[in-house]
Amino acid sequence: MTDAGGRFSPLQRALHWLMAAMVVAMLFIGVGMVSTLHPRYLVLIAIHKPLGIAILVLAVLRLGVRLRRGAPPLPADLPWWQAAGAKASHVLLYALLIVMPLVGWSMLSAGGYPIVLYGPIHLPQIVPHDDALHAILRAAHAWLAYLFFVTILLHVAAALFHALVRRDGVFQSMASWRR
Ligand code: HEM
Ligand code: HEM
Repeated sequence: MTDAGGRFSPLQRALHWLMAAMVVAMLFIGVGMVSTLHPRYLVLIAIHKPLGIAILVLAVLRLGVRLRRGAPPLPADLPWWQAAGAKASHVLLYALLIVMPLVGWSMLSAGGYPIVLYGPIHLPQIVPHDDALHAILRAAHAWLAYLFFVTILLHVAAALFHALVRRDGVFQSMASWRR
């Protein structure tokens, strides 16, 4: 159940803000990583892989919690197209939270690279070694990252519209603090 004040449950709110920070960090680490020849590339990629896999694990957990506990209803006076936009963008965000890490993992598998989580802890290859597939997945990982970035910008703009213009409690439903 969502909580009595019409908010997402504490677990849902905690996961939302933790994962928001992780995803923003991943986007910047990813872009920083591919635009440098400096040895710090190795540090960035060593963070990027386990952090991305942690997002995958948390996203599956979060989707399970969402399906069990649901979400507070949107305001009844919200225009239908805004309600439809909110639902569609949330589905897209959940999809990207799961697909992005899977594409990253598959990309490294197809390229024949080790998928190192930490020290000797490696993940298995999830697709066969194939250079053509590696090139496709690498491009897909970059394009999906741009799509993620744009979707987050729209999502934040909508959240601020609810918080500052409509003041209809939608922002509060995900805020971790009391009114
Ligand atoms: C939510 C999860 C993830 C996000 C938001 C993300 C984001 C990004 C971004 C923005 C880039 C730079 C793309 C470019 O401009 O070319 C990138 C590159 C990369 N990502 Fe991810 N990533 C995620 C998960 C993963 C995972 C789980 C792995 C592997 C286990 C991975 C492996 C890589 C690699 C190897 C590159 C460098 C690709 C290249 O050399 O062109 N990513 N990522
Ligand atoms: C940066 C990465 C972010 C991701 C991946 C993300 C993802 C999501 C997802 C998937 C939902 C739907 C929750 C559900 O129905 O279970 C959601 C809801 C929400 N998010 Fe975010 N979010 C991010 C950042 C933010 C930020 C920065 C804000 C505030 C400025 C924000 C404010 C909200 C609000 C207010 C809701 C509730 C909307 C509603 O019930 O219609 N989010 N977010």
